Amino acid sequence: MATVMKTTGMKTPDSTTPGSQTMKITPLSAACGAEITGVDLTQDLTPETVAAIRQAWNDHIVLVFRGQKITQEQQLRFASYFGNLGKRKNALFNPELQKRNHGTQQNDPNVLLVSNIKENGEPIGAFGEGEMWFHIDSGYAQNPYNYTFLYALELPSTGGNTQFSNMYMAYDALSQELKERYAGRKALHIHEYKRSEKVEIGTDLSKAPHYFHPIFSTHAETGRKSLFVDRLMTARLEGFTKEENEVYLEELYEIGERPEFIYEHKWQLDDFVMWDNRCAIHARTWFPPEERRLLRRCAIEGAPIHE
Ligand SMILES: [Fe+2]
Repeated sequence: MATVMKTTGMKTPDSTTPGSQTMKITPLSAACGAEITGVDLTQDLTPETVAAIRQAWNDHIVLVFRGQKITQEQQLRFASYFGNLGKRKNALFNPELQKRNHGTQQNDPNVLLVSNIKENGEPIGAFGEGEMWFHIDSGYAQNPYNYTFLYALELPSTGGNTQFSNMYMAYDALSQELKERYAGRKALHIHEYKRSEKVEIGTDLSKAPHYFHPIFSTHAETGRKSLFVDRLMTARLEGFTKEENEVYLEELYEIGERPEFIYEHKWQLDDFVMWDNRCAIHARTWFPPEERRLLRRCAIEGAPIHE
């Protein structure tokens, strides 16, 4: 059983009890992110420990556990403490889309291998190469994932960092004029399976997964409002002209990507990182394409977004 200790102000709990650990929470940036130590993700966790992790998650949006040696089964079991596992959503749309993130070593519908590795000419996973713009995982779906969990198995010598932006901060930074302009409005999110290109607004929506979500989202647990817009998939703000959209969208993307809202995670092997998609967007930096990178992803199913 783990007891919780924040980095400041709390007495060190007794750690002499067999099996007991001290869970420690250390913030990683002024924007978001905290490292958790004293929890072994391969073990069964008590409800108290799970509740403490959930509280830290609500406080810090992104949680980092280092030096974890977890199997796929252990990752899925840990993730299941936080809700129902989310299947790879592309499989739910059509076979053509399914092919695009079919990976030969993805042996469980709840697991996506984020990788550039090919074996015998076939990708073992998906979304493997290059830079990836800021996005919300499955933000194009009616029920975007609440949470994503990513575990580092192979890493390039440089780059491939994951940047997380705190979208509560983005909302709070909006002027009163912008809050009023977008209150009660929705935005169209489209998935075209591109990684660093704007969605074609003339896209045939019958073939592209898409959904209209409120521009502002209220988090079901914290009650806080966030900006629910990202550069990769948010294609249009409903109720505005094409010209207005071009200006307004860029303005919202830029607010969401301000450096002071971002924690950039530089991966180490055996890092386990989990984040809340409802109040964070994330992006990937470039890395050398000839070097191998492999991370194991799973997610927790979400619910409709409400303002
Ligand atoms: Fe992602």
